[in-house]
Amino acid sequence: MAMEQTLLIVKPDGVSRGLVGEVLARIERKGYRIEKIEGKVIDRDLAERHYAEHKGKPFFEELIEYITSGLSVIMVIRGENAIENVRVIMGPTNPLDATPGSIRGAYATSVTRNLVHGSDSQESAAREIALFFSE
Ligand code: RTP
Ligand code: MG
Repeated sequence: MAMEQTLLIVKPDGVSRGLVGEVLARIERKGYRIEKIEGKVIDRDLAERHYAEHKGKPFFEELIEYITSGLSVIMVIRGENAIENVRVIMGPTNPLDATPGSIRGAYATSVTRNLVHGSDSQESAAREIALFFSE
């Protein structure tokens, strides 16, 4: 079993809808622990660096506008196989494909406003944790 860290973001719609506690409860009850947590309005520069892999795609501008539109809660989560398991707890990118047992399946209807972000690989986790928590 691999002890891993992953970056989890409750996106602006999750914060404004009062769903931070719901997200955290699911992560904590699964057995994961919060190592770092910060509330922050993500600015355009940070958003574009975080989502650099999507630059040039048709949804990029909408994605950047949305993720910078209000307060996000940004966390480092630690535990066994945290990267893949947090993605399972979140559910697929499009909430319409997600089962109701997942965060996106339970609480979201829009592929853009899909409540949460989780790192998708060890490389992404290391890059994203450094990006948000390096200073
Ligand atoms: P995230 O990075 O936010 O955890 O989401 P993800 O891995 O499940 O999905 P990804 O492919 O990385 O896409 C990043 C975010 O871009 C928005 N998106 N919109 N309209 C569309 O077709 C579309 N596709 C992706 C979503 O907000 C997604 O979370
Ligand atoms: Mg992604």
